[in-house]
Amino acid sequence: MDTLSVWRATAAPTGFAMLGEDLTTDVLVIGGGITGVTLALLLAEQGRQVVLLEADEIGSGATGNSTGNLYATLGNGLQQVVSSFGQETARQVVAERAAAIGFIEERCRLVPDASFQRCPLMLWAQPSQQDWIEKEVNALRMGGCSVERASAVPAPLPPAPGDVLVLPGQAQLQPQAYLAALARAAALAGARLHEHSRVLEIDSKGKRVVTASGSVRASEIVLATHTPKGVHLVHAEMPVHREYGIAFEASALALPAGIYWWRASEGLSVRTAQAGGRHYVVCVGQEHKVGIHNAKAGLLALETLAQKHFGEQAVTHRWSAQNYRGADALPYIGRNSNGFIATGFAADGLVWGTVAARLIAEQLAGNSPAFGELVDPTRLNPVKGARNILQENVTVVTQLVKDYLTDRQGEKLSALAAGDSAIVEVDGESLAAYRAPDGELFAVSNVCPHMGCKVHWNSVETSWDCPCHGSRFRPDGTVIEGPALSPLKRRHLSGLDG
Ligand SMILES: Cc1cc2nc3c(=O)[nH]c(=O)nc-3n(C[C@H](O)[C@H](O)[C@H](O)COP(=O)(O)OP(=O)(O)OC[C@H]3O[C@@H](n4cnc5c(N)ncnc54)[C@H](O)[C@@H]3O)c2cc1C
Ligand code: FES
Repeated sequence: MDTLSVWRATAAPTGFAMLGEDLTTDVLVIGGGITGVTLALLLAEQGRQVVLLEADEIGSGATGNSTGNLYATLGNGLQQVVSSFGQETARQVVAERAAAIGFIEERCRLVPDASFQRCPLMLWAQPSQQDWIEKEVNALRMGGCSVERASAVPAPLPPAPGDVLVLPGQAQLQPQAYLAALARAAALAGARLHEHSRVLEIDSKGKRVVTASGSVRASEIVLATHTPKGVHLVHAEMPVHREYGIAFEASALALPAGIYWWRASEGLSVRTAQAGGRHYVVCVGQEHKVGIHNAKAGLLALETLAQKHFGEQAVTHRWSAQNYRGADALPYIGRNSNGFIATGFAADGLVWGTVAARLIAEQLAGNSPAFGELVDPTRLNPVKGARNILQENVTVVTQLVKDYLTDRQGEKLSALAAGDSAIVEVDGESLAAYRAPDGELFAVSNVCPHMGCKVHWNSVETSWDCPCHGSRFRPDGTVIEGPALSPLKRRHLSGLDG
């Protein structure tokens, strides 16, 4: 299935060249999402030498596949921060996030196609979750937000059975257009950006990374890769979820501008958007854990839900992206033993990514902002080593998904039709096999090279996804995203096909 977000489909391409040489720089930023690009811009503006390497295209990770909403609160509620850390921390979180939105607004002044606009956030819930809404109103007030209430949401959104929580003064934008403009500004300020330059090896002690066509040696390395590459303790702490997005064309007045969050067993996030001169309704939902769900069913359920409220619509864009949640509702930002990392943003990372870039730029300048302590990635303070904790985490996840995977094993290679995938046994080895629509057969090891979990087929994006820490691979085994650096091992099955 063709999956491309409405943002990526309608923004102008960036077109930075692939890295083709060996470079030495002051700071190397790996990852061209909102975290990496914002950081590269800030560092270049400080006059520092900075190189950014992006595996694919700027924005091709979560940023260009997000919903483009900017809010000072958190998608899963500020109440968890209040109950775990108290009022003062909730205030700090809201203040830091509001400042990041202000930063984005300022940068958007010269970028009309970023379509930045202030708008309210409206949150309402099914009857069984009315208590949650009350708690959230209290938590937001404790966090210093001015909260209002309404009794209804605009039609044709799912009607509100109780009070609607309204947070005025939030914002939304076209995330890919914003990111592309930041990237161009970073290049103008002196940063070197390279697309299609996947980092394949990281020597964090020698401070050198290698791509297929060059290498970079740096005094500091920042892993702005959404989840850090390689083995990091934070992987054991972060559940990984995938979520779906769809867009369909609508009349200009389909809904007033707003962030609409319907909290229910089948939750839904809705917004309108103007992109490429057309008006769209964007619906996002059907979140599930990576690697243990039928992806096609998730996307279909989202389309059915959107139709229930908006009527029969021709969906123009479909996409999907994943998020990594911090265990205590806060992200992990700052220096760990392997360099700088920025992760655990849940589905709030356009703002957290901006917070992270601003914070790391300060830390690299030798400052220690107070917020850095709160989100310090080493706050887990392990008694055991990272590898032991991660191995336990792998065992737990493997047990959880065992039955699901077993159901799909033991298929015959010869029975694999075009477009089908299966786990097959060849010479005593379990292989993840996929036959492309043109008949070409791909067979790869089904063992994730990150830490040994078994991968599972994602039918929407034709990829093998790992349920443990979210690594994803193309049918030929190459890495798409996640902490794995190396591919699933390819097996050539000439003579065995059939
Ligand atoms: C469906 C969905 C909707 C969302 N909506 C919102 C929203 O409305 N508001 C909000 O605030 N947040 C939202 N989020 C969360 C937000 O999109 C992310 O948290 C944020 O974009 C993360 O930015 P990032 O720069 O850290 O990562 P990314 O944008 O994922 O960028 C990381 C980049 O690193 C690159 N990379 C990875 N490995 C390598 C390598 N080896 N070498 C070189 N480059 C590499 C990737 O290709 C990628 O481009 C949403 C998330 C999802 C899943
Ligand atoms: S084992 Fe960690 S991502 Fe697969």
